[in-house]
Amino acid sequence: MATSRKSLLNKLMKHRKRLDEQPMRVQFALDPNRFKRYSASAGDILLDYSKNRIDEPTMEALFELARAVDLEGRRKDMWAGKHINSTEDRAVMHMALRYQGDKPVKIDGVDVTGPVQDVLKAMKGFSDAVRSGAIRGATGEQFTDVINIGIGGSDLGPAMVTLALAPYTRADLRVHYVSNVDGAHIHDTLKGLDPKKTLFIVASKTFTTDETMTNAATGRAWIAKALGEAAVADHFAALSTNLKACADFGIKSDRIFGFWDWVGGRYSVWSAIGLPIAIAVGFENFQAFLKGAYEMDQHFLKTKLEKNLPVIMGLLGVWYRNAWGFSTHAVLPYDQRLSRFAAYLQQQDMESNGKSVTLDGKPVDYSTGPIVWGEPGTNGQHAFYQLIHQGTDVIPVDFLLAAQPHETLPPHHAKLVANCLAQSEALMLGKSKDEVIAELKAQGVDKDKIKALTPHKMFPGNRPSNTLMYPKLTPEILGSLIALYEHKVFVQGTVWGVNSYDQWGVELGKQLAKALLPKVEGAAKADDHDSSTRGLLAQYHRLKA
Ligand code: F6P
Repeated sequence: MATSRKSLLNKLMKHRKRLDEQPMRVQFALDPNRFKRYSASAGDILLDYSKNRIDEPTMEALFELARAVDLEGRRKDMWAGKHINSTEDRAVMHMALRYQGDKPVKIDGVDVTGPVQDVLKAMKGFSDAVRSGAIRGATGEQFTDVINIGIGGSDLGPAMVTLALAPYTRADLRVHYVSNVDGAHIHDTLKGLDPKKTLFIVASKTFTTDETMTNAATGRAWIAKALGEAAVADHFAALSTNLKACADFGIKSDRIFGFWDWVGGRYSVWSAIGLPIAIAVGFENFQAFLKGAYEMDQHFLKTKLEKNLPVIMGLLGVWYRNAWGFSTHAVLPYDQRLSRFAAYLQQQDMESNGKSVTLDGKPVDYSTGPIVWGEPGTNGQHAFYQLIHQGTDVIPVDFLLAAQPHETLPPHHAKLVANCLAQSEALMLGKSKDEVIAELKAQGVDKDKIKALTPHKMFPGNRPSNTLMYPKLTPEILGSLIALYEHKVFVQGTVWGVNSYDQWGVELGKQLAKALLPKVEGAAKADDHDSSTRGLLAQYHRLKA
């Protein structure tokens, strides 16, 4: 690339200057077609991005930027199985896990569709058998509770999806997720459960992650204590790329479900890591979930950039991050069942694009991944929306909204929808000084009070949001939504020229924790640490005593 990324990104600044002078509410007034102009669909998912600080020249500049960084070429490389995860020398091919076509999908010259189908078949067999009671615990009792032990990508995806698809779950088969090394997590999960009816799934790509191995050992001891060591094999399954370590743990070979190093942890919900989902909602629904993701893959692959949802969302994120300096991005689903969606996206996005060197190891001279956060509406409205409306930071927002609820409980859903639409409208419009004064006058407020109150009641407006609307939160739609965000992360990583598929930034803390453990346990002296760490350790030992 002849021109540096920084100068490509700087080119966006001239558009910012123009848009600074023309807020969205003015643009909406001038252009009755604004919604039509700035909305696009992928299957049943509509993206309304009209409430953004954009105009035609801006969008053109953003698509030009995408072409200048050869987004299409890199997308092709990813799909061709090239090792775009260069620091780990791996392909990035989670799309192969949900591929529904009949062409070979080659990675390093090998068609992976057969092995993928084999694992899916094994997952179907196992999940069907757990659901029907064909597979039971050591004492012959049917499983009523499944505990998935994993962390990061081996937890967040399946946990979020299981919650999102609650209408498809059964009351007599509960799936729990334990991730934290904090003993409180497994302790509180086990409370009230019957070992005879409990199945553990140990989910870990590497099968070395300390939190997961610690929780797995605790779960194993719980089963062994209640039912004897011989029962362990009947109460455990494992999901991993490290098949040997699973066998060493004592897991039967037909209960080990494998995947491959070309599946990143945070992109692994489509792999064997999805087994607890299949148990919770049934394999057919899991397949529909895969199909939804495949449909989004096809959209991302085949739709021209100007109508391509992940491309549009990715570029808008770049626009705000690099031309406006907005550092956070809120994801606000008006869907209670998506209450873990933002937490899931935090790993997907922040572990992917929270990088400050380019692919060739040079420090970036521009901002990369934003801080991603969020909570479902309407709850957030009564917590942090104050800052989104009137705070000093501008926070671009994604609203997510289903047209149909799963339950027939009028007027709940109509109220939910009204609130969602009201928020994006309020953010865009704001409330001017004249509007506040007119409103207070109409309420009969006296002059002095109007003067005092007006600044507090004004809303700056011109605050950006996307709205994603879909018919209903089905497995298929959920699959599409997750894949949409995955590809958005790819688009942004490509623009920023970073490796979105490694995560070296998580290593240092792990190393230091290992070194600190003997000092916390009192088996070694802490002389080699800084004064703060030494002071905290000393206080810990005092308080513990
Ligand atoms: O610590 C980060 C991480 O490596 C994630 O990328 C990953 O999803 C998580 O840990 C869990 O790893 P594993 O599945 O190997 O236990």
